[in-house]
Amino acid sequence: MSQFFSEKFRTLEAYVPGEQPQDRSYVKLNTNESPYSPSPAVREAAAREAQQLQLYSDPEVKPLRAALARVYDVKPENICCGNGSDELLNFIFLAYGDRDHGFIFPDLTYGFYPVFCRLNAVPYEEKPLRPDFTVDLSDYLHDPRHVVIANPNAPTGIALGLADIETLAASDPDRLVVIDEAYVDFGAESAVALTKKYPNLLVVSTFSKSRSLAGGRLGFVIADAALIRDLETIRYSTNPYNVNRMSMAAGVAALSEQEYYTANCQKVARTREDAAAKLEALGFTVLPSKSNFLFARPPRISGGELYLSLKARGVLVRHFSKPRIADWVRITVGSPEQMDILLRETEAILRENV
Ligand SMILES: Cc1ncc(COP(=O)(O)O)c(C=O)c1O
Repeated sequence: MSQFFSEKFRTLEAYVPGEQPQDRSYVKLNTNESPYSPSPAVREAAAREAQQLQLYSDPEVKPLRAALARVYDVKPENICCGNGSDELLNFIFLAYGDRDHGFIFPDLTYGFYPVFCRLNAVPYEEKPLRPDFTVDLSDYLHDPRHVVIANPNAPTGIALGLADIETLAASDPDRLVVIDEAYVDFGAESAVALTKKYPNLLVVSTFSKSRSLAGGRLGFVIADAALIRDLETIRYSTNPYNVNRMSMAAGVAALSEQEYYTANCQKVARTREDAAAKLEALGFTVLPSKSNFLFARPPRISGGELYLSLKARGVLVRHFSKPRIADWVRITVGSPEQMDILLRETEAILRENV
């Protein structure tokens, strides 16, 4: 840290993203990316747009918002686009949190939420998930603070139903309910349609997972037009060109190929169920996942030991050292071939630890 670093950030602990090691090639099942590449039309659209990179991108993000509006059956004025949904989540904490009005979210959820709160000096409280890792809705019903829920949740993969989301949104029109749907396309129900009925509901989503564009950095929020205007004020005050030309073109092309991406999501969901059954047969406890990852506890060895042994064998999964989940690992659902390798190596590790 330099002597110049602002006093207010001196104790800030930055978010630690999943590792992206370059030392060797790994079967990479640690950051919930898609195992499938973007469709050829998406790759061509991005390459074509690269020829125009001397020009700034459209600050109104018009083509992408129009395409999203068509697919999600909302109006462009209900959409704000960002450089990944991380950027938009940061905008939300920045726009709606202040010293007197904080946020609540589960104790086990996306690790960026508390970091954004601390970055923006927004108070927050983590509500413990139940012992079975489900959300206790009653924790969120009689509290004036804004709510953030990842649905499906990460790292558990467990989803809330739409009725529960509606109960949350309806319980208090004077506080916001933010639903982070990064993984919704793998089997959960989207709350986008509810944003027309509840002007306090924001749905945050991303092209990173189901649309194979993690490296393109493209996210969006769907909400009432007044909330979107707030976020646009923040966006224009931060970086009006936050959606670059190539990602915008890729996003528009991806939205015109829904069948390709829906088929990929279905493949991932099938692979997930198959891998979950095989892990259970090996003695793992596996949570019921509606996402593109599995949260699983190995028999006999700890999550940390399994993570290290798999890494030594060229397979990367994610381990969190938080007390309640230190015995668990999060495994991204890869291609069937990648999952075969994971299962083979896991079985070998467990055999060494009988
Ligand atoms: C729950 C959740 N929300 C948001 C994100 C961020 O996604 P993006 O790549 O759009 O920034 C992630 C990324 O892993 C996530 O797990």
